[in-house]
Amino acid sequence: MTMHLVRFGVSMEAQLLEAFDRTLAREGFANRSEALRHLVRRFVSEQHLEHLEGEVFGAVTIVYDYTVRNCTKRLLELEHAFRDTIASTTHVHCNTKTCLEVMLVRGNAASVAALVRELQNLRGIKSCHVTCVSSHG
Ligand code: NI
Repeated sequence: MTMHLVRFGVSMEAQLLEAFDRTLAREGFANRSEALRHLVRRFVSEQHLEHLEGEVFGAVTIVYDYTVRNCTKRLLELEHAFRDTIASTTHVHCNTKTCLEVMLVRGNAASVAALVRELQNLRGIKSCHVTCVSSHG
């Protein structure tokens, strides 16, 4: 499927834009559009999760650079802390430094949201996507 890209204008304070440019360069984004798409996807999935209640089932997919200092250690600590929420984890070694992990989660929506927030704040995590359904539809 080919995605049709739509252009739109964004206004913001010059200072905020400068900070955005510095951050996206540091985080390895090719340009503003790529960084904005990343932020919008994250916002949409977070808001979706925030509006779910009760028990949810889902998959959390992360891509990370395991060579980033302490990344693997912190990830493992996090996974053990959330052992009641994470039902299983599948790991794929993509190349010499990139890992893909899919966590199947089951638990209350707040716990899943907390796990996702922690993952997004972990240094070395390149992307974090969530797909969730509520047990009551
Ligand atoms: Ni790996």
